[in-house]
Amino acid sequence: MTAEYQVHGDVAVITLNNPPVNGLGLETRQGIVDALSRAEDDAGIKAVIITGAGKAFSGGADIKEFGTPKSLQDPNLHSVIRALENFSKPVVAAIHTVCMGGGLELALGCHYRVAAPGCTVALPEVKLGLLPGAGGTQRLPRVIGVEPATNMIATGEAVPSEMLAMIPGQKLFDKLAASVESLPAEALEFARKVADVRPLPLVRNLPCKHPQGEAYFQFARNMVKGMAKNFPAPAKCVDAVEAATKSRNFEDGLTTERDLFLNLMMTPESRSLRHLFFAERAASKIPDVPSDTPKRDVRKVGVIGAGTMGGGIAMNFLNAGIPVTMLEMKQEALERGVGIMRKNYEAQIKKGKLKQDKYEARMALLSTTLSYDDLKDCDLIIEAVFEDLGVKEQVFSKLDEVAKSGAILASNTSTLDVDKIAAFTKRPQDVVGMHFFSPANVMKLLEVVRGAKTAKDVLATVMALAKKIKKTAVVSGVCDGFIGNRMIERYSQQAGFLLDEGATPQQVDKAIEKFGFPMGPFRMIDMAGNDIGWAIRKRRYVEQPDIKYSKTADLLCEMGRFGQKTSAGWYDYEAGKRDAKPSAVVAKMIEDYRQQQGITPRKISDDEIVQRLIFSLVNEGAKILEEGIASKSGDIDMVYLTGYGFPVWRGGPMHYAGEVGLFNVLQAMKRFARNPLDDAKAWKPAKLIETLAAEGKTFE
Ligand code: 3HC
Ligand code: NAI
Repeated sequence: MTAEYQVHGDVAVITLNNPPVNGLGLETRQGIVDALSRAEDDAGIKAVIITGAGKAFSGGADIKEFGTPKSLQDPNLHSVIRALENFSKPVVAAIHTVCMGGGLELALGCHYRVAAPGCTVALPEVKLGLLPGAGGTQRLPRVIGVEPATNMIATGEAVPSEMLAMIPGQKLFDKLAASVESLPAEALEFARKVADVRPLPLVRNLPCKHPQGEAYFQFARNMVKGMAKNFPAPAKCVDAVEAATKSRNFEDGLTTERDLFLNLMMTPESRSLRHLFFAERAASKIPDVPSDTPKRDVRKVGVIGAGTMGGGIAMNFLNAGIPVTMLEMKQEALERGVGIMRKNYEAQIKKGKLKQDKYEARMALLSTTLSYDDLKDCDLIIEAVFEDLGVKEQVFSKLDEVAKSGAILASNTSTLDVDKIAAFTKRPQDVVGMHFFSPANVMKLLEVVRGAKTAKDVLATVMALAKKIKKTAVVSGVCDGFIGNRMIERYSQQAGFLLDEGATPQQVDKAIEKFGFPMGPFRMIDMAGNDIGWAIRKRRYVEQPDIKYSKTADLLCEMGRFGQKTSAGWYDYEAGKRDAKPSAVVAKMIEDYRQQQGITPRKISDDEIVQRLIFSLVNEGAKILEEGIASKSGDIDMVYLTGYGFPVWRGGPMHYAGEVGLFNVLQAMKRFARNPLDDAKAWKPAKLIETLAAEGKTFE
């Protein structure tokens, strides 16, 4: 039963029961109308309460149903709300915990609303690239006022029930209960009090006006334009609320809202955001690790190495209230590392993002040491020392001696084989990769690298811990570069070929920035340091002698142009500044290289640049899926969104490829493979792409 029916004397209580959040799917909608007709037919019932079981009143329409025939099937949300409005006896919504989207719209169709304090109230549809499509844009302004409603609808931000209850003259809540616990009894008492009141109040009958409508909506439109330039939904939200103030009658306003909603539903931006909503949640699930796998207790964390990564990693745990002991080889290194952490926190204080007392509380959880003995009581120890297998061996052998039994031993390595690292210990089941991204205290992505022997409870623990420290964790199998860096190598390879063939670093960067990346490949590598890629390529030249790269990146490094840190890379930089200026030296280097290779430069379109860069990611991503390095295409999308700045409104590389059509992607890849200056081997299509394209399918 997705909507339970109970009778309490003269009041019927309909309880939505569709875990996890009482989404208003077809069965639940049907359950509500069935329950209403039972209450209608029972002369002993004088009022009805509608509430939610478990951890929500309702999280809104069932997003999984979108785009399926079920979403259109009767009773739809509109007809359910109409049934509530037309009901002959008072209906009271008893709202608690979460009241969102269609859930709030349902409540607004009830005659009365009693809310518990601490309830998260929102119309978050805009975050899915939509607007409230079941009357929310027409009813909310009528109960809390046009401006607060526009803000809530266009930003999707949640507001606690007690704050909404304080809006002067608000008609959203008829009563705020004393607590969640007392809500059922208070709602019952309220329902009995209003049982005989007629006529029944309807939100749709309330007036909806703004005294300076024209000016206000113009202002609101400008505001959302600045906030969300690549998303159509926020501006449409404003249009819909404006319609509430201007339409001849309520029904006309509803029609406008419905049209706008249906149009948004078809946009690629909304499809991307809906894909990401589920991909984000699915990423934390590992197919062969059940959600009830017992987790190890992590009360204290050790971090080895206080360099670029170690300090940021430590901050994540301090921020979550978990004590950290940081170990280094020398006192100076510890002091330098802690100094940088302090500077980071102080910068947050200056920006008003952190309070002094919180900062002090966090630093009080940090201890430093030069002795492994002090890591004995740590439940998790993360190593962030030099990227050298010999150094990792020393560290892990030592950890094997000192760490307590059951402690999780993690490596932040970005390129080394986690299975080899695990083999330095006699407890490979406790070893896992935790690949943070730089700056580790800021970047959301955490690649959790699953070794061949990593225990399931270690994975379950690390995934849960990631949530606690507010990271998006994605599991990767062991391979060179894991998911993200393995793919980015293909992308960088293409960026180099584009230079050889006639593009400039500026043109490549601009094209991909126009596509939506915050930074093109050349500005990005200048920031990260060109020497990192140089070291990797040198290794590749030995391990894979037939591998093909543009030599321009090596020539750049031979000139000592490592990027921002040397004030010179693909661009010129003023010392200490980050503004990238086109470099005449680099332009000449590229030109000389082309001449030496006998390449006549050609004009390359921005479209070709984008396709070559993005499809190179897609092909490698598909191989990663085939090999089982990633278990779902959505995981790859999450890696690119949270670690590499892939534009959110395009949904990640794998989703984007589906939007383009895998058949088209395949054709383009075959075309690129025929270019003699490119690397035909790299464009050999993943079998998965060929199969899906032939079947007319996408990755999802
Ligand atoms: N439909 C379907 N599934 C939903 C859902 C919804 N509206 N809201 C949440 N879920 C699912 C999640 O996918 C997840 O499923 P899983 O366990 O299988 O992965 C589960 O509920 C729990 O979700 P969270 O992990 O996000 O749980 P939290 O407790 O952290 O958060 C929440 C709960 C605040 C409700 C959060 O899930 C949320 O913000 N949900 C989105 C709400 C939303 O966007 N509602 C509007 C829907 S569109 C609509 O109503 C259209 C209407 O205007 C016509
Ligand atoms: P870093 O050079 O800034 O810091 C390494 C620190 O480890 C130094 O302070 C050094 O004194 C210390 N150290 C070295 N050997 C040690 C030992 N035996 N015992 C204790 N301390 C020791 O290096 P960085 O950049 O922080 O990298 C660390 C690890 O993180 C590497 O494995 C790297 O591949 C990985 N990584 C680096 C990223 C980056 O952007 N810098 C991103 C993701 C992972």
